[in-house]
Amino acid sequence: MNEYNKRREFLKSTGKVAGFGIFAAAFSSVINSCEQDELPPKPPSGLSFQVDLNTHPELLAIGGFKVLTIDKLNGGDPVIIKHNPDDTFMVIDGLCRHQNCNLEMPSDPNGNMVCMCHHAVFSLVDGKVLDNKGFSTAADLTHYKTEYNSSNKILTITSWLFLIHIFMEYRNENL
Ligand code: FES
Repeated sequence: MNEYNKRREFLKSTGKVAGFGIFAAAFSSVINSCEQDELPPKPPSGLSFQVDLNTHPELLAIGGFKVLTIDKLNGGDPVIIKHNPDDTFMVIDGLCRHQNCNLEMPSDPNGNMVCMCHHAVFSLVDGKVLDNKGFSTAADLTHYKTEYNSSNKILTITSWLFLIHIFMEYRNENL
């Protein structure tokens, strides 16, 4: 190896070491600054939908229930709202997810709902599937978190699934 090549090799190897050193220092300072100065990010709070039960008087009485479509809640699909015996509210998916079919509602709040397509059976007490007719996707109905303000009769429903539906819509439109 002549002098020129030797010098070139020396500069290349020292450059690699220096480059790695700079990277390591920068990386370590980022890690340290995260550890020392930053609090962990707060989890997002989900999205809320408000329903004024003054406009749905059948839901004000204990045992009352109704199928409603509320904006983008449940991906724009219907939900079932029920006033529970303990004065809380249950909000559940209003479709059988085997093939997204509507449910036939009972007259009794303790009765069962029957899928209109292949007759899977669901409980109106807790949204659980009682007979899936052999279809694994005819499963327990998704529950949404609720909060009720009895003074102004506003039911607040919180949904995380809203974000998943937005993502699915975006993906379907862009693929
Ligand atoms: S769509 Fe409900 S059981 Fe098939």
